Amino acid sequence: MKENIIPHDYQISRKDRQSNNQHNSFLIWFTGLSGSGKSTIANVVEQKLFEKGIKTYTLDGDNIRKGINCDLTFAPEDRKENIRRIAEISNLMIDAGVVTLAAFVSPYKKDRLNIKSIVKDDNFVEIYVNTSVEECERRDTKGLYKKARAGEIKNMTGISAPYEAPENPDVEIKTEGVSVEDAANKIVEYILPKLKLLSNE
Ligand code: ADX
Repeated sequence: MKENIIPHDYQISRKDRQSNNQHNSFLIWFTGLSGSGKSTIANVVEQKLFEKGIKTYTLDGDNIRKGINCDLTFAPEDRKENIRRIAEISNLMIDAGVVTLAAFVSPYKKDRLNIKSIVKDDNFVEIYVNTSVEECERRDTKGLYKKARAGEIKNMTGISAPYEAPENPDVEIKTEGVSVEDAANKIVEYILPKLKLLSNE
């Protein structure tokens, strides 16, 4: 099937869109346990970028798992497919010139490596939102940890399914002891130089 798909040669390239926008486009990937604060921090980062006139979009469980990935469970194979599809969508968004933020548990190292291979190393910024399972369980904003303890939810990351922490994230946020505002500022500081277009582009 794949061998019969011959790409059309479009006149407007990724570089053209980036130079029109006056900034680079890439993927900012937030990984961490459920309830760790990924979406909360991503949301503030997006606001800060938006205020600077950067074209942004955020992908998270709400708009992905309820829509395009509503056929997927939390079994390892489905999580792998969840992440693969999100990486492919992100790749299109990067192509469209958009700085894409993605907040997903993404507990498996192999799956996160796969994102990198889909969007390419240079376009991937990994943010590890490091909140202990004890703290996530204490917060339990969605009541999922309680359900997992009661055996009502299977494969709950941190309880009955593993979380493989990143070894070399680009930015690590230890949320216990840092405000959302400070966390977002640290990430934006890291990102700003990456937004600059090279002068010959
Ligand atoms: S991932 O592992 O495939 O990356 P994803 O980020 O899309 O997960 O979805 C995780 C969200 O789904 C959690 O924040 C939580 O609200 C909800 N959820 C429901 N069941 C589970 C589960 N078994 N493990 C983790 N999160 C779950």
